[in-house]
Amino acid sequence: MEDDEIEHVEEENENEEKAEELHSDFEYKDIKDLPGVGSTIASKIRNAGYQDIIALATANPLILVEACGIGEPTARKIVAEAREASKMNFMSGLEFEDKRKSVQRISTGSEALNILLGGGIETQSITECYGEYGSGKSQLAFQLAVDVQLPLEKGGLEGHAIWIDTEGTFRPSRIEQLAAVKGLDPKQALQNIKIGRAYSSDHQVLLVDKIPELINADPKIKLIVVDSMMALFRAEYVGRGTLADRQQKVNVVLHNLQRLADRFNVAVYITNQVMARPDVMFGDPTAAVGGHIIGHVATYRIYLRKGKKGSRVGKLVDSPSLPEGEASFEITSNGIADIEEEKKK
Ligand code: GTP
Ligand code: MG
Repeated sequence: MEDDEIEHVEEENENEEKAEELHSDFEYKDIKDLPGVGSTIASKIRNAGYQDIIALATANPLILVEACGIGEPTARKIVAEAREASKMNFMSGLEFEDKRKSVQRISTGSEALNILLGGGIETQSITECYGEYGSGKSQLAFQLAVDVQLPLEKGGLEGHAIWIDTEGTFRPSRIEQLAAVKGLDPKQALQNIKIGRAYSSDHQVLLVDKIPELINADPKIKLIVVDSMMALFRAEYVGRGTLADRQQKVNVVLHNLQRLADRFNVAVYITNQVMARPDVMFGDPTAAVGGHIIGHVATYRIYLRKGKKGSRVGKLVDSPSLPEGEASFEITSNGIADIEEEKKK
């Protein structure tokens, strides 16, 4: 196995130029993902005290030769790859502007809500939707997972979706129903969504880690849903006095999601249940439970609440570039929709 891995590196040395091209914009997350490393060498590197790519980037190749039983050119190549992979990348303001130009939007199904969000939910960003049970967070996710599949002129990206379900609330029948309403083939629409059911917070972390692989296999993926982001973390860390641990783990997941959004130009939509606090008399009565855990990472935050006559109200909170405001919409059997004019009166 090791021999194979070394051979692989040597082959790559011959094709260095090609390799550069292949790896230049690839982000390695783990030592074992570096070209020519693999799991056996990776564990030897770790045993030698280099736990991650950044640590490896500063390693002396001669120590690797000793610790991993590999040749010096191979060791140098591995360290060079680690350096390349952990390089901090600056970009000019112009490059930044260009990157922003590639931002795309997915329709929510309600024109009013789309306008509030500047056209729909954005790629390269995390949109967090928080609110009480039954406020429509999951319904909006179903709608987005269908709408992302629509052609551009209908508010979609002709894309596919990934759905991480932490509460067991994904409903294939709802996708089929919404797809039929939009003129999509219901079975095909379901086929275009990859669902991962997370049973623990660790499992949720692993599923998120798996996403780059899924997108590499299916570059049409344009939306990642995590419904809900916090449920498992909350359930597992209740009363354990390990809030800091929980926070750290949640932050890792959120930052990984943000990286995915940037790297693959996909939209990330996460939900977060918050409970109304009757003891809070002034200000936002739902702000407390877990609300702030995500707040600093998500680019867009929508607070959903139930409105008059069964309607829903979405409020945009803390947006970097859009004015705060509210939009009313309805959840109907046909999906998320604007409130009909007569009903507004
Ligand atoms: P939690 O996951 O419990 O925190 O809630 P949530 O915010 O995800 O709520 P969800 O999106 O599941 O919204 C559920 C609500 O959507 C229901 O209470 C209904 O009011 C509404 N809803 C769902 N399906 C339909 C439908 O087919 N027709 C209509 N009219 N309303 C629906
Ligand atoms: Mg839900």
